[in-house]
Amino acid sequence: MTRSVKKKKKAVTADQEVLRQPLPIRQRQRLIDACITALHLYGPTGTTVARVVAIAKLSPGIVRFYFRSKAAMLVASLQFLATEFEDRVVTPVVALRGQPALALQRLVELYLDPEIASPRKVAVWYAFWGEASARQEYLAICGQKDANFAALVHDLVDRMIVSSGRRHLDSEAVALGLIGVLEMLWQGFAFEEEANIDRALARRRCMAYLRSVFPREFAALDEGAGAGRVIRGMHGDPLEEREKFFRGAWQFAGHEQEIPGSGDYVALDLADTRVLVVRDAAGTVRAFRNACRSLPHALVSTRRGRFADASIACALHGLSYGLDGRPVGSHEGAGLLQFEVYRSHGLIFVRSPAAARPWPEPDLAGIGAASDYLPLPDAAGSPWPVEADWKIVMLQLLESRPPGATTSPWRRQFLRPNMLVEQRPGALSILQVLPAGAGRSRVQQFEYAAPAADPQALAGEERARSLMRVQLERELAIAASTQQGEADPDYEVDASVAPSPATAAFRRMLLDADY
Ligand code: FES
Repeated sequence: MTRSVKKKKKAVTADQEVLRQPLPIRQRQRLIDACITALHLYGPTGTTVARVVAIAKLSPGIVRFYFRSKAAMLVASLQFLATEFEDRVVTPVVALRGQPALALQRLVELYLDPEIASPRKVAVWYAFWGEASARQEYLAICGQKDANFAALVHDLVDRMIVSSGRRHLDSEAVALGLIGVLEMLWQGFAFEEEANIDRALARRRCMAYLRSVFPREFAALDEGAGAGRVIRGMHGDPLEEREKFFRGAWQFAGHEQEIPGSGDYVALDLADTRVLVVRDAAGTVRAFRNACRSLPHALVSTRRGRFADASIACALHGLSYGLDGRPVGSHEGAGLLQFEVYRSHGLIFVRSPAAARPWPEPDLAGIGAASDYLPLPDAAGSPWPVEADWKIVMLQLLESRPPGATTSPWRRQFLRPNMLVEQRPGALSILQVLPAGAGRSRVQQFEYAAPAADPQALAGEERARSLMRVQLERELAIAASTQQGEADPDYEVDASVAPSPATAAFRRMLLDADY
């Protein structure tokens, strides 16, 4: 296995992160935590320096060191809560804005999360609201926070109205309704012990409100309900979705045995880009955008080939690039745009270095050795166009059982966000599902087999491949039919049908802004 990307650093836990902070920062935070507890117990008027230091188990003089006055300490505590709310609620929801149903569901979850909506913290918000003397300070610090939150809810509701086609709805009223439901639930939390709070019920109430306004979209996201493989509430803006799921993701581009010698190349169209993978004279595997730097048209149009004279020439006006991507000959312009390369088990993956949010490397732990596998004669046929969103296709493939999986040892690995690697005795195939516009996708299949298989094994392999092709056609037809069925406004999901673990994991990936 060869890597051309940096190794990830070991994760640091939140506690370790806190311990790494300098002592003054830790002490100040300890005082803020104690102040929040005091505000919860005694309110702003009853919160005194003596009570705060007693809770913090620090000496009274230390407050003066960090805060000018008691008022400054109260304001700092409220500011801390406002920043926490922004970081832990608003920012993750904004990241999902392209999928408004998912974003609203996440907003409900995060708004009611025990870390944010603990009785202790919620009580502090209301304590400031309740005291006229403190109200001006509250408004100064948190007015913007409240306004931002309301604007976010309005924006998501607007998007829901557009995507659901329910243009008769009053977005202002719907947004106020949701904010009101959330506020009422918070008020209830403020006067309860944590043990008495039923957060699952609170979430269900919010989702019931949203479902009463957007029944189709939120039926599919019903918490706790199976919701099967129906994801009609999870379709977002295709461009934002591509940015989120594909721009920084590793994508399969070929097998090392397809480019054994210097100048050998494979080319492939991905979600929004075309890739050209080349082996240079030193044996290094390089990947470039399959696009000339003069005009973004493809330098090569075949899946595989060889640059005989070690130069990548553009047929249009004759610009040439070396196998390292640098311009050669008389022109001294820019070189080819590069991709990052990750190689494992003989498989070559590429990723754009320009992605703002790079994905982790593909996990092939469940796949056995395949470095010497050779491409089968029609290893990468034409992509299959499918009249179904890429997510529907992925879910269908994840639910399917490969033919022969019951009688021979199969390994299957899902590579986020859109690939399946399947390994059977002596052979391996990769399915890659790519978005091709709203409600459309294309599926690319690549097949490789161990060298020197005997004739009997080859015949068996050919039978397996033919069965796989039949099954794939069937799965893609089901995906297209599922998408058609999702458009039926009166269709309802049977909530008793639980999704499989693979489907649940895929849905979580769609939901999880941090993948
Ligand atoms: S477009 Fe490639 S040389 Fe002009």
